Amino acid sequence: MTDGNATLHFADDSSIELERIEATAGQPAIDIRRLRADSGHVTFDPGFANTANATSSLTYINGAAGELRHRGYSIEDLALNCSFLEVAYLLMYGKLPNRAELDEWEHSISTHTLLNEEMRSFFDAFPRRAHPMGVLASATNAISTFYDVYRRPTRKREIDAGARTLIAKLPTVAAWAYKKSIGEPYVYPSNDLDYVENFLHMMFARPVEDWTVDPAVVKALNVLLILHADHGQNCSTATVRAVGSSRASMFASVAAGMCALWGPLHGGANQSVIEMLQEIHDDPDATIESTLARAKDKDDDFRLMGFGHRVYSNYDPRARVLSSYAEDVLDRMETTDPLLEIARELEAAALADDYFVDRKIYPNVDFYSGIIFRALGFPSRMFTVLFAIGRLPGWIANWMEMNSDPDTRIMRPRQIYIGETARDFVPIENR
Ligand code: CMC
Repeated sequence: MTDGNATLHFADDSSIELERIEATAGQPAIDIRRLRADSGHVTFDPGFANTANATSSLTYINGAAGELRHRGYSIEDLALNCSFLEVAYLLMYGKLPNRAELDEWEHSISTHTLLNEEMRSFFDAFPRRAHPMGVLASATNAISTFYDVYRRPTRKREIDAGARTLIAKLPTVAAWAYKKSIGEPYVYPSNDLDYVENFLHMMFARPVEDWTVDPAVVKALNVLLILHADHGQNCSTATVRAVGSSRASMFASVAAGMCALWGPLHGGANQSVIEMLQEIHDDPDATIESTLARAKDKDDDFRLMGFGHRVYSNYDPRARVLSSYAEDVLDRMETTDPLLEIARELEAAALADDYFVDRKIYPNVDFYSGIIFRALGFPSRMFTVLFAIGRLPGWIANWMEMNSDPDTRIMRPRQIYIGETARDFVPIENR
């Protein structure tokens, strides 16, 4: 590095100067936009582990210190003091709403929760055993087909309306996907309930009995959704930006992000964690020791689910909140869960094991979230759907940021070709 820039020297003694891009917090970047044109080289960075794909003012993560902030506010402050819709507003519009702005925002969301009635047949068409993530992603795309204007919105007013539509309708879609899977009638949204209450109502109310909401469940679900609201350029958010960079609609981009989230190395991990803990509980051959041994075995593709993170080399701050919150929620629900005990033992054993210590592998957000989701009454197949409802504001805020960034170009990485060089064509009779 010289004078704030970097110099790249090649074997033939040529060199090029690369500029630095400063960050307001965290790592600066080396700008390689001219690299290929000036040097004839591309960079190689599988999984983009060292590559910033955008500048962003949404979320800051200090992975070494285990810190997470949205628009400058710590995740702990937001989780303890805000509602989920407040955090959604913060992510999308850059400031915490004042009372009037929040009232207006909540009202605009609560009056757009209804799905077009034709969507009912859409849910009916899925098989009963359909995973709700498949239904959620498909339905998100399907909603846009009812609104031509959202196909390629250009005006801010239309983009805001698209965002509001998505945030308002996703809980209805999620709850209907669940009702379909258990063969119960769909419950229509109720605009006098708040966002989280309304979702719980559509999930758990049944026409045959009265349903009342437990404020402790509402509070806990708010906290969980906030903890999932955004997380930098994770796989699903990067997908939203990649799809959006082709000028695909916000709905199509978010639906693609949901598909990325579904994978077990990403948001699908929350379901896999519970399945792993349940196996330790049920199967006498699956112990804490054998589970860790499998996770360390390079010939076994099993991983300790809910552990490890690309960005954190310290305890994930979201997992820290959830770890203490899990006990709290179980107490308030006046219930116990043997899987929490197993999770605690598994965590203690992993954090004392050289394999995990050397690689700085700690629990991530998915390790304790499922135990709380279970205590609140959600089946494990819905866990990743809950992650998606929580992450929606982050996906939308990233889509908006990408859409208004003059540096955005269609996502189109290079490759290093390692196949055959030119070959003479062989007619079929000679092969
Ligand atoms: N169990 C066992 N080994 C692990 C684990 C794990 N959970 N996580 C990382 N490692 C090892 C990995 O095998 C590698 O070892 P070595 O250096 O000997 O080859 C080393 O740690 C570095 O791992 P990596 O795969 O290069 O790290 P990554 O940044 O590419 O992957 C990850 C990050 C989250 C995909 C990975 O840690 C993982 O598979 N974790 C389990 C799935 C999970 O819990 N995912 C949720 C992520 S957090 C919420 C979200 O974003 O969805």
